[in-house]
Amino acid sequence: MSGNRKVRLAILGSGRGSNFTAIADACAAGQLAAELAVVLTDVADSGILRLAHERGIKSQFIPPGKFRTKLDDEAESAFVEALDETQVDWIVLAGFMRILKGEFLRAFPNRVLNIHPSLLPSFPGLEAWTQALEYGVKVTGCTVHIVDQGVDTGPILGQRTVPVMDDDTPALLYARIQQAENLLYPEVLQALATGRLVIHGRRSVAVEEMVSKQNCLEI
Ligand code: GAR
Repeated sequence: MSGNRKVRLAILGSGRGSNFTAIADACAAGQLAAELAVVLTDVADSGILRLAHERGIKSQFIPPGKFRTKLDDEAESAFVEALDETQVDWIVLAGFMRILKGEFLRAFPNRVLNIHPSLLPSFPGLEAWTQALEYGVKVTGCTVHIVDQGVDTGPILGQRTVPVMDDDTPALLYARIQQAENLLYPEVLQALATGRLVIHGRRSVAVEEMVSKQNCLEI
């Protein structure tokens, strides 16, 4: 990143696109000092792809290849190439439902962020809200974290809590978590974009003084 140019974000998603919308709205409203450079998806008929088209944001469907839960080598290279071409600073996973590893994470070390619908490290993996409900916790929430080689294990950048109600169903609880996600992701991205979130090892710390945007993600 150089000078005062805006941080360039890529958003990767497979689904509805509510976090994409929240981030795009925050950029448009001047609440997030970043630019949406590209949206990439592994699902040809995803909501996120349609929403990106509607907003005139560069977007692309890249076929994921032969595996169900991860990208195959060819697809992973195609994603890396598309991101390199667009020269993005951070890669924002917003409901991207395939595990990224190997070549992808080496290409963008500590530059890939994810949002997960629980208070990590509780309930990693799929349907975290159902896991939380079945476990019987009274509070759950959402987490933005850096993606590392594990599943939902990277350093935590921000969390929001959500109460679990006595009469909750999985759908009701998830809807409440998604509302919290749509607030949390733009907040965390703005803190990073303005250099007000610094990471030491596994811990992220809010700072008063703005630090170099380049250094804020050095871990
Ligand atoms: C979000 O709830 C996000 O936490 C989840 O996918 C949803 C995408 O919603 N991601 C994961 O579960 C990843 N483990 P959206 O398409 O409306 O932003």
